[in-house]
Amino acid sequence: MIELAPSILSADFARLAEDANAAIRGGGTVLHVDVMDGHFVPNITIGPPVVKSLRKAVDVPLDCHLMIENPDEYIPAFANAGADWISVHQEATRHLNRSLELIRHHGAKVGVVINPATPVQTLGEVLDIVDYVLVMSVNPGFGGQTFIRGALEKVRKLATMRAARGLDFRIEIDGGIDLQTVGPAVRAGAEILVAGSHIFGRGNPAENAAGLLHAAQDAMLLQA
Ligand code: DX5
Ligand code: ZN
Repeated sequence: MIELAPSILSADFARLAEDANAAIRGGGTVLHVDVMDGHFVPNITIGPPVVKSLRKAVDVPLDCHLMIENPDEYIPAFANAGADWISVHQEATRHLNRSLELIRHHGAKVGVVINPATPVQTLGEVLDIVDYVLVMSVNPGFGGQTFIRGALEKVRKLATMRAARGLDFRIEIDGGIDLQTVGPAVRAGAEILVAGSHIFGRGNPAENAAGLLHAAQDAMLLQA
């Protein structure tokens, strides 16, 4: 099943609940929340208080993408604030298995993320303990960047590894998803589509989300 995960990074933070709910009306079924610390990535965004407020303002799962160093220190706070899904970068933690188990322990869905330059093979030993793998199709830190096509091959490889091992994690893709790139991403095997600037950058978030979701579903039908 294809799901659209609007990324609030490109929303108007002064009207966060309105923007988020517009994207949800347009078909978003997961809200993607980008957490940046100014160290792991060269940008700073939001922390647990905003997650706590959002949790009360929307009815879909909150997918917290932690682009931070020392994620273990903050996983409990995000989980307690109401993060339903939490993902950590393979590159940001020395003990990846421990970080992932910590997320599980706090009751959130467990995600692992890889940057464009990180091979999928680095995840071989954790694929059986995650609920989803997030493949970055831009270098993390900013919205509105150009899709890196090498991500498609990584999505295909992950789908192959999953089938070969009989696993059931889901595959999410993040960065540069728009009407041109969503089709190739879905055909490669991406199931959860993060989109920020396409949805919130200009115009009406509900219409933008609906258009993108329809393009994704069309690509899925063509594949079948
Ligand atoms: C980038 C973030 C993304 C970002 C995507 O570091 O992880 O979630 O919001 O934005 P677009 O869709 O504009 O590439
Ligand atoms: Zn993200």
